[in-house]
Amino acid sequence: MARLDGKVAFITGAGTGIGRATAVLFAREGAKLAIADIDAAAGEESAHLAGNGAIAIRTDVTDPDSLQNAIRQTVGLFGRLDVLHNNAGGSTAADNTAVEAPLDEFWRAIKLDLFGTFLGCRLGIPELIKSGGGSVINMSSNVALMGVPGRDCYTAAKGGIAAITRSLAVAYAPQKVRVNAIAPSATMTARVRALVAANPALTKLAESHLLGLIEPEDIAATALYLASDESRMVTGQVLRVDSGVTIS
Ligand SMILES: NC(=O)c1ccc[n+]([C@@H]2O[C@H](COP(=O)([O-])OP(=O)(O)OC[C@H]3O[C@@H](n4cnc5c(N)ncnc54)[C@H](O)[C@@H]3O)[C@@H](O)[C@H]2O)c1
Repeated sequence: MARLDGKVAFITGAGTGIGRATAVLFAREGAKLAIADIDAAAGEESAHLAGNGAIAIRTDVTDPDSLQNAIRQTVGLFGRLDVLHNNAGGSTAADNTAVEAPLDEFWRAIKLDLFGTFLGCRLGIPELIKSGGGSVINMSSNVALMGVPGRDCYTAAKGGIAAITRSLAVAYAPQKVRVNAIAPSATMTARVRALVAANPALTKLAESHLLGLIEPEDIAATALYLASDESRMVTGQVLRVDSGVTIS
């Protein structure tokens, strides 16, 4: 039996990068899934790559109506929701310290990463409860767990995600909803390869990975564990998948 047989998953930002790798792995493990990405073409391509009846729904996770509609469509088609993966997000080269960062970049990161995750939980958890429980997988970052200079907009957003992961885990444990987050360090998606190349501080961080650089598939494997019943006693955790960066 595959590890996600019978489960329905909703993954935001799965048109590229880590989310795409996760969609492909979830489908291979038997999940029915919806890919909710703002880039419709990228979402369609991921759905095609994933197979197993995966669908793509153009979704803006910062827009309550768009996200509500996507979750409704998913439940309407597949009949239930078991796994909510709030993955959409990411930093940009405009990020900097609180002193130097453009204010627009602060609100961009807060809106996409933190508010997008908050909204996903707000609209998705009631569907998990209707299914008798389920798994929420939020996407934090190593920057929430260690001092990485020059990324304060993204750090503020990802720290907030780690914090609400714990509070939601406590609030919804009675309804058997588990809420966890993954905290990857630099993971070699196309976007991050470009960021690392352009930022000397990030290049230094990449060099400090004890086990080598992380691939999107490494993060997808952790998401699979959190989505499956193998993690049924795990909640409120921020799991580090960081090649030892936060311990060295
Ligand atoms: N790659 C890394 O090094 C790394 C490290 C730590 C955490 N993360 C986190 O992992 C997640 C995925 O990162 P990635 O590197 O795969 O990113 P990526 O840029 O490769 O993919 C992000 C996807 O999100 C989509 N997206 C952007 N805005 C959206 C919106 N408003 N609504 C819906 N979809 C939207 C994009 O179209 C894209 O397909 C992010 O939350 C990121 O912060 C990544």
